[in-house]
Amino acid sequence: MSASPIEQIIYRIPDHGEIAAIVRLMEDVFNDFIAPGYDPEGIDQFFHYIRGSAIALRLKRNHFVRVAATSQKIVGVIEVRNYNHISLLFVTREFQRQGIAKILMQQAIAVCLREKPDLRKITVHADPRALPAYKAMGFKKTGSERLDNGIRYVPMQYKPRKYLPLIQSD
Ligand SMILES: CC(C)(COP(=O)(O)OP(=O)(O)OC[C@H]1O[C@@H](n2cnc3c(N)ncnc32)[C@H](O)[C@@H]1OP(=O)(O)O)[C@@H](O)C(=O)NCCC(=O)NCCS
Repeated sequence: MSASPIEQIIYRIPDHGEIAAIVRLMEDVFNDFIAPGYDPEGIDQFFHYIRGSAIALRLKRNHFVRVAATSQKIVGVIEVRNYNHISLLFVTREFQRQGIAKILMQQAIAVCLREKPDLRKITVHADPRALPAYKAMGFKKTGSERLDNGIRYVPMQYKPRKYLPLIQSD
C-alpha cells in the first residue's frame, strides 16, 4: 500500500535554489488567508519582506529557515530570527491541520535551544487568525492586537522546555 502524502513529508533546511519556491508558497498562502484582512500598505510591507533577495540576505545574517517538503514540492516553511523570534510560518492550504506547523515549530525550537541553551522565550507577531494555532503550540498572548505599518498582529511568546522537541534537528 502506498503511503499517504502526509507520511512522505521530510523536514529539512532548504537549498538556496529553493528560495523562489518558498516565496511562491508564502505568496499563495498569504493571498489566501491574510491579505483579505490587510490594507494595501500591509500587503506591500509583507511582499517586500518575503522577496527572495531579502530572505537570502537574512539567511546570511541572523535568520534560519526550515521547510516541510514532499518529493514534489515545499508545503511548509518556518523562518526564525536570532534564535528567538518566529518571523514567518506558512503551510500550504491542502496540507494544513495535519501537524506540519507543529513539527516545523518543534524543530525550530530545538535549533534555538541548541544555539542558545539559556533561551527564556521565543516571540512571534501572530496574525490574529493564526492565534488558535499558536496557542495550541504553547504560545501565550503578551499584549493586545496591534497595527504596525499596515501589519496586523498579536504579540505572543513561548517559554521553552514546556515540552521537549520530539524531532531531532540537524
Ligand atoms: C497557522 C498555520 C501555519 C498552521 O499550520 P498547520 O500545519 O495547519 O498547523 P498544525 O496542523 O501543525 O496545527 C498545530 C496546532 O494548531 C491547531 N490549529 C491549527 N490551525 C488551527 C485553526 N485554524 N484553528 C484552531 N486550531 C488550529 C491544531 O489543531 C494543532 O493543535 P493540536 O496539536 O492541539 O491538535 C497555517 O494555518 C497557515 O499557514 N495559516 C496561514 C498563514 C499564517 O497565518 N501564518 C502565521 C502567520 S503569523
